[in-house]
Amino acid sequence: MYIHWEKGLELGNDLIDTQHRMLILLCRKLDIAIKTRAGEQLIRWVMMELKKFTEFHFTSEENLMHEIGYPGVDEHALIHADLLVQLDMMLAKISHHKEFPEDLLFFLNKWVAQHVVNEDLKIAEFARCSDKRPIGEDLYGQYLLSGKAQSKD
Ligand SMILES: [Fe+2]
Ligand SMILES: [Fe+2]
Repeated sequence: MYIHWEKGLELGNDLIDTQHRMLILLCRKLDIAIKTRAGEQLIRWVMMELKKFTEFHFTSEENLMHEIGYPGVDEHALIHADLLVQLDMMLAKISHHKEFPEDLLFFLNKWVAQHVVNEDLKIAEFARCSDKRPIGEDLYGQYLLSGKAQSKD
């Protein structure tokens, strides 16, 4: 199994898609760090990078839901909390065994992909038609996807 970005994961929302790409990149980075037997401390640092970015992404997505008036914010936030618990458990497992667990890739793939296509898709669809627009909704498109930093201030 190889974790990579694919068209099916793209939801059509610049903020969500950009952050999901980074999330998948960090899963891949962790996988490479473990498979190439990087030092224990290096692997720990990469795990922390993945965990911190995941927390950031969940906060970002929850803010987006509030901004657009998404009706299922609490439910979605609970799923995020549960995913973080699962990630913590998997990271602890890697830490303690100090070797590559056979099911890491399977776990990360399922963990990321299923949530994206089952749950995050609903936010992207709602965001498309909501009258309430997210704060600075063009920023991700302008700054991160095109790479052109433009200020309208
Ligand atoms: Fe989510
Ligand atoms: Fe997400």
